[in-house]
Amino acid sequence: MAGSGEQWWRDAVIYQVYPRSWADSDGDGIGDLPGITTRLPHLADLGVDAVWLSPFYTSPQRDAGYDVADYRDVDPVFGDLAAFDALMARAHELGLRVIVDIVPNHSSSDHAWFKAALASKPGSAERARYIFRDGGDGGEQPPNNWQSLFGGPAWTRVTEPDGTPGQWYLHLFDTSQPDFDWTNAEVRGELEDVLRFWLDRGVDGFRIDVAHGLVKADGLPDSEHDQWSEPTALAPMWDQPGVHDIYGSWRRITDSYAVDGEDADRILCAEAWVLPAEALARYVRHDELHQSFNFEYLMTPWLADDQRRTITHSLAQAEAVGAPQTWVLSNHDVVRHASRLGYPQQPGLHRVEGIGADDQQPDAELGLRRARAATAVMLALPGSAYLFQGEELGLPEATQLPDESRQDPTFARTGGASKGRDGCRVPVPWEADAPSYGFGPGDQPWLPQPPEYGPLAADPQRGVLGSTLELYRTLLALRHALRLGRGNLTWLDGFPDTVLAFAVTSAAGEVTVLANLGDQPLALPDGTTVLASSQPLEPGAPLGTDETVWLHL
Ligand code: NOJ
Repeated sequence: MAGSGEQWWRDAVIYQVYPRSWADSDGDGIGDLPGITTRLPHLADLGVDAVWLSPFYTSPQRDAGYDVADYRDVDPVFGDLAAFDALMARAHELGLRVIVDIVPNHSSSDHAWFKAALASKPGSAERARYIFRDGGDGGEQPPNNWQSLFGGPAWTRVTEPDGTPGQWYLHLFDTSQPDFDWTNAEVRGELEDVLRFWLDRGVDGFRIDVAHGLVKADGLPDSEHDQWSEPTALAPMWDQPGVHDIYGSWRRITDSYAVDGEDADRILCAEAWVLPAEALARYVRHDELHQSFNFEYLMTPWLADDQRRTITHSLAQAEAVGAPQTWVLSNHDVVRHASRLGYPQQPGLHRVEGIGADDQQPDAELGLRRARAATAVMLALPGSAYLFQGEELGLPEATQLPDESRQDPTFARTGGASKGRDGCRVPVPWEADAPSYGFGPGDQPWLPQPPEYGPLAADPQRGVLGSTLELYRTLLALRHALRLGRGNLTWLDGFPDTVLAFAVTSAAGEVTVLANLGDQPLALPDGTTVLASSQPLEPGAPLGTDETVWLHL
């Protein structure tokens, strides 16, 4: 796909496919690359610009592929390199760009380098690629107090080749995900080479896993704060200045693939849970990454003041460094927004964790109504937007998964205290009346699908006015035609505080967006034309609570 000279990524809508759960071609209950290829027309028809694939590389799947054993191959469960090439070719034929995940913070413990490290002595070159340290108290205690994001200590002690208890290695995630040592030139060179491997195969970009974690503070000091809830700047494992040097090098690599000289056609997007937004903006300076996920937006409650504040602040931070802002409401690590918004909303930022059958259940109808309204706000905003598979169907979180079926390591590592992220990863329904709702020919998907997924399948929604799928198609088509992603946002006066009221103006047109987050119906201004609405709207009817409308004034 040639470069457009327009920096396609500045306003792109990018759809995340979680390969395990999108489409299964062979009936083994796990999605795969040939399945994805077959279903790609759904994305062309939806009107997105690109697809981002979560990891499909060789992996023992201890963290659903975010534990990579071979960065240059496809896991047999998903297919092979030929299946990847076929997927790429089909996507490009359909006008869809393809972004893949790169997991540079850690490898799998099955990676050849880690096996070599375990078989080698302390102080060896093989150990130096990872973060091995002697323990405290005669070796018995972990080298510092860091905790794993999945629960428990972030250090595991190894047995040395001679059978004695030995050093400890760092893993910010599961024990099967040892952290690389990014001060090691070999690590740096290897991951750059991996980027080139996939760029040479034609990928259009990378989503960088745990982009803020690669560099750790010198001397690995104890963390004095709760490392998961304090601003990231205070934690010795997050957002260290050294990461920016790495991304400067990566940018030079992707730029070297630019087709027309001025436009980097291959992009880099950071998964960096970094607050405040000023710190996050450093990742997208002109000579670093193209985008970073705006998790502040995802964590913002459905309250008018909070929404206004986050949107204004996000746009200002991105503009200050000349980057496009990104917007995201759901992904494979958080509770789907159709369920998250089905709870009472409190001011402040929230990252809702997994939901179990014994937890308070979200109000499904309210959640979907708000999710549709929130999406109608998001898709009007200037910048680039990320969608997570199934949100275009209005899928809720699967909240009733039996504990025995849960596979996210978080569940086991916290002794069940955290339900984990399986609830948003349940296979997608395509057909209401087929085995596994059309996910694949088998009837045993790797996670059980809840019965409410049947009526939400893609087929019964296609072409049905008012369905969530058709709402997404309409919004995406208008967004594209009016080039809203390239527009400027102006907040409008004269509406109640509980209404988000803004205009987005681009060279191609203008839209006025009203989102009613208050409890009173809102009469629409006279003489307006409704272009789209998050719920069916009768002519002349007011805008109800938790509804968004796109108008032509
Ligand atoms: C972030 C990924 O999105 C998540 O799914 C994964 O568990 C961690 N990084 C560790 O790679």
